[in-house]
Amino acid sequence: MKIAFFEVTEAWERKGIIEAFGDSCLIFDKPLQEVDLSVHQDIDAILVFIYSHCTSEQLSKLPNLKYLGTRSTGYDHIDKQYCNSKNIVVTNVPRYGENTVAEFALALLLTISRKVYSSIKRVRSGSFDFSGLRGFDLAKRTIGIVGFGNIGQKFAKMCKGLEMNILVYDTTPDKVSAKANEIGVTLVDLETLYKDSDIISLHVPLLPQTTRMINKESISKMKNGVVIINTARGDLINSSDLLDALMHEKVLAAGLDVLEGESMIKDELELLHKENKEVSNMQILVADHMLMNHQNVFVTPHNAFNTQDALERILVTSLSSIKEFIEGRTVVCQIKS
Ligand SMILES: NC(=O)c1ccc[n+]([C@@H]2O[C@H](COP(=O)([O-])OP(=O)(O)OC[C@H]3O[C@@H](n4cnc5c(N)ncnc54)[C@H](O)[C@@H]3O)[C@@H](O)[C@H]2O)c1
Repeated sequence: MKIAFFEVTEAWERKGIIEAFGDSCLIFDKPLQEVDLSVHQDIDAILVFIYSHCTSEQLSKLPNLKYLGTRSTGYDHIDKQYCNSKNIVVTNVPRYGENTVAEFALALLLTISRKVYSSIKRVRSGSFDFSGLRGFDLAKRTIGIVGFGNIGQKFAKMCKGLEMNILVYDTTPDKVSAKANEIGVTLVDLETLYKDSDIISLHVPLLPQTTRMINKESISKMKNGVVIINTARGDLINSSDLLDALMHEKVLAAGLDVLEGESMIKDELELLHKENKEVSNMQILVADHMLMNHQNVFVTPHNAFNTQDALERILVTSLSSIKEFIEGRTVVCQIKS
């Protein structure tokens, strides 16, 4: 079986892969779309990260493909329908570190509530004056958690430790109600969550129904001065609408590990030189840049997953999944739907 790994940039990962599969597997540091696949038609299995565009156009260049593993939880970069039609087994890493991402969401929230970034900048600039750096307590404030899966639950436990009131919305209330009781959070509908939360944190997957769920209309239902945290996927938020709400002080602040159309930010020089610039893409990019430079917005480069502990767990799970597939065992992390 010919296996190819994409987006492998670090020596320890390469070493782990070679120890598991020998040096006959292909290891690329680039994402799938940047590799000339025409000379690798014999590939049977690929393992990618989130910057590989696993579209039908790319995947159809690999006629032998039987297995596609993503070394991430989210799999919105994969054309799942195409894979189903070609019987390609798709796996993700559903639980590499709910604590890892939840800790980052908390870091963004504390950065905002206690003006940590500005405080450090103040001292670095040579001043020890705290004027203008007053924050607010999290204890007793109400946080609305949208999506009560692995990460949302872990984040709720952390917020509980901070003595916050916690509202939760999830589309599978029957599945999560026992956990909600155990942690001590209140399950509500989305309208109530928008209306009553001082802070809203997103922990849902990117799906057609969640795409741009934070937009002009939903923001209008929120409290004045709400804080928004997004460590899930950038396209959950309409960047222009968020920017507008920040400029009108409807939204006080935002902590964003992910941005709408963030893959374009990585490729934006290339995009600027394209003949057919899509105006809507340009609008998103402009809004993203204005968000990145807004004094009450804290954007990080999709970094919430990025701890050595989490990356080691991701590699171990990814390698076990493909071994299960090769050995004809049940592939535990197969995405079924
Ligand atoms: N920034 C990062 O580095 C990073 C890392 C890991 C995961 N993520 C993102 O975080 C997301 C959540 O991860 P997870 O492990 O908690 O996933 P999960 O599958 O365990 O939980 C997702 C929850 O969202 C709920 N849900 C689905 N659609 C919904 C909707 N429309 N409204 C409300 N709830 C809905 C589901 O019922 C589920 O309980 C992932 O899909 C991924 O996109 C980001």
